[in-house]
Amino acid sequence: MIPVTKPFLPKEEKFQEYLDSIWDRQWLTNNGPLLNDFELKLKEYLGIDHLLFVSNGTFALQLAIKALNLSGEIITTPFSFVATTSSIVWEGCKPVYVDIDSETFNIDPSKIEAAITPQTSAILATHVYGNPCDIDAIQEIADRHGLKVIYDGAHCFGTNYKNRSVFEYGDISTTSFHATKLFHTIEGGAVFTRNPELLKKMAGMRNFGHSGPDTFSGLGVNGKNCEFHAAMGLCNLESVDEILEKRKSLSLHYYDRLSTLKARFPKLNRSKDYNYSYFPVLFDSEELMFKCLDKLELSKIYCRRYFYPSLSTLPYVDHTAMPVCDDVSRRIVCLPLYHSLTVSDLDLICRIILRVQNNQKAKPMVIDAYDGIIANNANPAINGHYIHK
Ligand SMILES: Cc1ncc(COP(=O)(O)O)c(C=O)c1O
Repeated sequence: MIPVTKPFLPKEEKFQEYLDSIWDRQWLTNNGPLLNDFELKLKEYLGIDHLLFVSNGTFALQLAIKALNLSGEIITTPFSFVATTSSIVWEGCKPVYVDIDSETFNIDPSKIEAAITPQTSAILATHVYGNPCDIDAIQEIADRHGLKVIYDGAHCFGTNYKNRSVFEYGDISTTSFHATKLFHTIEGGAVFTRNPELLKKMAGMRNFGHSGPDTFSGLGVNGKNCEFHAAMGLCNLESVDEILEKRKSLSLHYYDRLSTLKARFPKLNRSKDYNYSYFPVLFDSEELMFKCLDKLELSKIYCRRYFYPSLSTLPYVDHTAMPVCDDVSRRIVCLPLYHSLTVSDLDLICRIILRVQNNQKAKPMVIDAYDGIIANNANPAINGHYIHK
């Protein structure tokens, strides 16, 4: 079986050493030494001054919205994981969608201004698949209209923009360290800001609003993370360069093998330090995509329609037509990509896909593949192989 992703696991002995130290100290959570060490090493690795390790990437988004006191409307992308929209709604704000660029699949800055109203408080954009948004254009619009900017950088570990970590941009950037991400702490996430006051505010909010053992500086909840997740982070940080290298070489191999496929890949935006976090393929037709998924599943190879559907069709938002996103989300699939994926498995995946394409003309298939895939997705045995949610 080849799943769409497999978590990277460090050497068990290395993790065990950290576990032994936790047992010795009996300090499990609440700002422990491993958590502090992890935050410090993360800052060093990313070259960033201010960050907080939090419970997950969804909480990081909620914290960012809360800490910036956002209200009213937040302009956002319809092409992202559901948490980008659900955090906006959860925090009592209204998502206002702006369609995506047809080449990068990130929010299209040229369409943002038309969506701004007197109620708009911020722009929340996702660097889709780790590919940076047009940060300069977004910041220029935000400055002109007095809007805050949050970046959902859940896919971005290891991506740089203009020689700095992409997490440095916006009023606040967030990320996820979920087990499916190329760098992970099993569950976890982080917020990043260049503003030390904002960091202090978020540090309080992550810890019940405490400013001391018996004092409170404001409203807070529990968004802390713990020693065990920090231990996994410390182990994985040692391998992250190797992980990034491997992903790059697998991705380049995919591009090479799939050069004759009737499909497109996202155009990388200033891609010098791109992290190759996913391998998305935009098929020329939905029909070809479903035929490929079908054949791959027969060989127990599982891809993921990521992101589908367009967030602007969620049951708790005002539905808005997003022509580019609606089209892209119907035809895009992420192929398997993970550290232990072998080149021979990758070659097999590409062979199956190309065989489907090349047989297409000779033997037209009945278009019941769509229903077949939906039916398969309803099967928990298969669903389990899809990424995680
Ligand atoms: C774009 C995006 N935003 C937010 C999240 C949420 O992160 P987490 O699963 O850590 O809550 C994810 C996770 O898959 C994501 O892909």
